[in-house]
Amino acid sequence: MTHNTAVKPFLEVLSGRRQSVPPLWMMRQAGRYLPEYREVRAKAGGFLDLCFNPDFAAEVTLQPIRRFNFDAAIIFSDILVIPYALGRSVRFEVGEGPRLDPLDTPDKVGTLAAKADFTKLEPVFEALRRVRRDLDPRIALIGFCGAPWTVATYMVAGHGTPDQAPARMMAYRHPEAFAKIVDTIVENSITYLLGQLSAGADVLQIFDTWAGVLPPREFQRWSVGPTKRIVDGVRAKVPGARIIGFPRGAGALLPGYVEATGVDAVSIDWAAEPSLIRATVQNRVAVQGNLDPLVLIAGGEALDRAIDDVLANYAQGRLIFNLGHGIQPETPIAHVEQMVKRVRAYEGN
Ligand code: CP3
Repeated sequence: MTHNTAVKPFLEVLSGRRQSVPPLWMMRQAGRYLPEYREVRAKAGGFLDLCFNPDFAAEVTLQPIRRFNFDAAIIFSDILVIPYALGRSVRFEVGEGPRLDPLDTPDKVGTLAAKADFTKLEPVFEALRRVRRDLDPRIALIGFCGAPWTVATYMVAGHGTPDQAPARMMAYRHPEAFAKIVDTIVENSITYLLGQLSAGADVLQIFDTWAGVLPPREFQRWSVGPTKRIVDGVRAKVPGARIIGFPRGAGALLPGYVEATGVDAVSIDWAAEPSLIRATVQNRVAVQGNLDPLVLIAGGEALDRAIDDVLANYAQGRLIFNLGHGIQPETPIAHVEQMVKRVRAYEGN
């Protein structure tokens, strides 16, 4: 299919044109709640083997599109492929999440490579080219990376933690060493995102899952500043590049993030306060979100009510309907179908 001129409702919203029915996709839409994902995952072996096999990665990227006809596909990969390409040890243990070599002293940071080995990420670019070729031209293709702060939290601690204390502590005790980690992620993420655009991504999302654990001053320094450098670095080469930010948990710091970083849209979590978002965020950029992933597990009337709330709160402005964070593995597929049907039946005009 090469109807490259086909209108993509998702990109229309990012370009400032509200759609009467909001475009829709789900964070983590390719994943363990789908039996067809679990099947490919078992064939692939390890999680990184799945990410780095272009056939498998393209296949699982397209699975949720076939089932739900979403308005966007997100390339199947992970934010931790950047530390991997920087030569750090990255493993995913079943049921335990990611495991990395902790980068928790200035001495260790001294050994960090400046430049990633991008040949290691070539399979991601190849998967993007394949998805772009097979994807309906009306559906947008999203590339992504982790924000430097969030990627650094895993690099420093070596695993996920409830509040990212190890990275916060290192940023206070050894700000220069911590800045070196962040700067290295910034530079390599720019190259990585530009590679994804060349390979066929229409839009980029920067996941800052752990932005919400930072006090305001640290948020400016480690989330806003580095994200802005990535946005500027990408647009220096591709001036029209469309970029969505997701500083999860930023709360009242969100308007400042939007203004400073220059993103085209922000993903908001379910705790966002609607009138504040409408008045200070949606007046400038598109918003994406923000259904609670738990209500998608619960289903029933609670789900209908929560969907209607998101629509009532945000669909009069530029909205991309999504969850406030990733879909969880125990989510029934029938509930996703219920959500898609209800959003597509929206008659808000
Ligand atoms: O959205 C998508 O469908 C695209 C794929 C995607 C994955 N990870 C696949 C994945 C995306 C966009 C990510 C981003 C990611 N990875 C983030 C930021 C967004 C978020 O959800 O907060 C973070 C913090 C990571 C790091 C990471 N990867 C963790 C903490 C884990 C373990 C937790 C878990 O859910 O198991 C992963 C593994 C991972 N990444 C899985 C998937 C589908 C599960 C691995 C499996 O199939 O066994």
